[in-house]
Amino acid sequence: MVQIKTDLLKLKEHVENCKKCDLWKGRNKAVFGEGDENAEVMLIGLGPGYNEDQQGRPFVGAAGKLLDKLLALAGLKREEVYIANVIKSYLPDNKPKKEQIAACTPYLDKQVEIIKPKTIVLLGNVAVKYVFEKFKLPKAPMRDIHVKPFSVASLFLKAKVIPMYHPAAALRNPGLRSTIEEDWEKIKDVL
Ligand code: URA
Repeated sequence: MVQIKTDLLKLKEHVENCKKCDLWKGRNKAVFGEGDENAEVMLIGLGPGYNEDQQGRPFVGAAGKLLDKLLALAGLKREEVYIANVIKSYLPDNKPKKEQIAACTPYLDKQVEIIKPKTIVLLGNVAVKYVFEKFKLPKAPMRDIHVKPFSVASLFLKAKVIPMYHPAAALRNPGLRSTIEEDWEKIKDVL
């Protein structure tokens, strides 16, 4: 357990000093991720917006407030899970480029390898695309796969991954809100 903390702290330092893509120029604070290092449930979002960049913490803006409510529907508290993102530096337009994803995801892979969650909740299309391609899962639109568990395995991991709509989707499209809330109630049975 102490080792997990130490390994994550070392990795965090790399992320804070990272200049592997152009996003470092626009960041105030890198957003490494946070939560229970021994969590069975890990959430993977897209990347920091303005508020996250100011605070150096994931999901602290409007989408984060909603995420806390959604977690509660699943019977979870933020402190019980680990929250990370595909991209660790301020992403002003929410549209990461291929090379930014390629530069940043080795950090995410390492976080997953260290934490070894049993369940990985993928928040939104970017996280789903990255993980589905990595584990060669079939490509499908979110409307067909949301809240469905998929099994993945590698040398370092055996887990279920669950695609979910990104909380910000409910803020952009209020019509989706009830679907997203129902998904988080359903996820309780999978976790
Ligand atoms: N949206 C994300 O995907 N991640 C954050 O950390 C904040 C907003």
